[in-house]
Amino acid sequence: MGALTGTIRVPGDKSISHRSLMFGALAIGETKISGLLEGHDVIATADALRAMGATITRKAEGEWSVYGVGVGGLLQPTQALDMGNSGTSTRLLMGLVASHAITATFIGDASLSGRPMGRVMEPLGQMGASFQPSAASNGGGTLPLMMTGLQPAVPIEYRLPVASAQVKSAVLLAGLNTPGMTTVIEPVPTRDHSERMLKGFGADLTVEEETGERIIRIRGDAELSPQTIIVPSDPSSAAFFIVAALLVEGSDLTIENVGLNTTRAGLITVLQQMGGRIDLLNEREVGGEPVADLRVRHSALTGIKVDPAIAPSMIDEFPVLFVAASLAKGRTVTSGLDELRVKESDRLSAMAAALTLAGAKVEESEDGLVIDGTGGELLRGTAAPVTTHLDHRIAMSMAIAGLVSTNGVEVDDTRPISTSFPIFEELLASASNG
Ligand code: S3P
Repeated sequence: MGALTGTIRVPGDKSISHRSLMFGALAIGETKISGLLEGHDVIATADALRAMGATITRKAEGEWSVYGVGVGGLLQPTQALDMGNSGTSTRLLMGLVASHAITATFIGDASLSGRPMGRVMEPLGQMGASFQPSAASNGGGTLPLMMTGLQPAVPIEYRLPVASAQVKSAVLLAGLNTPGMTTVIEPVPTRDHSERMLKGFGADLTVEEETGERIIRIRGDAELSPQTIIVPSDPSSAAFFIVAALLVEGSDLTIENVGLNTTRAGLITVLQQMGGRIDLLNEREVGGEPVADLRVRHSALTGIKVDPAIAPSMIDEFPVLFVAASLAKGRTVTSGLDELRVKESDRLSAMAAALTLAGAKVEESEDGLVIDGTGGELLRGTAAPVTTHLDHRIAMSMAIAGLVSTNGVEVDDTRPISTSFPIFEELLASASNG
């Protein structure tokens, strides 16, 4: 494939898409959404909300309508809720169920069934939810699991032990239908779409910053009013094209309408520190979120030591950063990335293995990777397929590595790409010349 040129638009933000459907499902009246990501993860959220009483209709591509049941109005689902590959659907919906007098069973694929749910069961249990893990659920902390909510639930003050927007959001969503004030203390800021959007839907939510911590309070027994939502393009999907354009010689690519919320934009900062030419054009606000068009040009990258404090703002972008580092001049060192081991796969070991197979020089530490880049020389490519472990971001990252390799990269399974970016292959082909 040749240089990446022209102008493209990647699909809607996954985090905002999930939340649009969930908050719409709790408002009375019609919420209209445009630019919704129609990936499998978001569809799993839509199906689960339908099973609990919401009316959700697809009007046209990306155009969706939601008629909600009102806060506290979710109904008992009659079948297990199939979360597929989606941790966000699971953890946020568990939060919603926790403060309703309903019982729900959550199931998922092999990847999701290995991921820790104890991190949400703990605070939701304090609020009164009870859990009946199945025999298959590894001592109780993973899917499949059945839970019963409590209505009225008990408001709590909860300090997040891990930097996780999913855990934060689960507690805030449970708090929406809990009398009194539910408080989440966030020592390290994570993506704040729940806070922004809940306020937009009319919830009584405040955020206070104190000595570097964020204190988020939500008053329960809320009423949400329906909204019209425009979902910006997903920076986590744009990431693959940003890195591709930086690495492939001759590239000059514009990616339109990319969400640039500071809790999500860490990759751009790191790539600029490495020497990447990324210009932010036409900066504006769309649907309460900062967005810009990104002009990305082929650049000679230099390895750096990545500050672990930036990790939460680029937590899903490390796999593709590792690809960029493999082609940079010199050494890139990352650390503080323990959370990467509990994503859709163990992303540290999966990327170390995949990049090594493609000819990169990678060392895996307990909480990061150390990569000695080629200084712009192409990677060798693979002789056997890399294992993607049902992880969309490993598959897409290694596809980008394939663009900058002599023999190409083969991946074992491209199907998981549809969880977050169904048009990835098509868009990559259309942006590449040759
Ligand atoms: C998400 C939060 C992140 C991220 C995930 C989406 C969200 O997970 O990895 O893809 O929408 O809240 P954690 O909050 O668990 O780090």
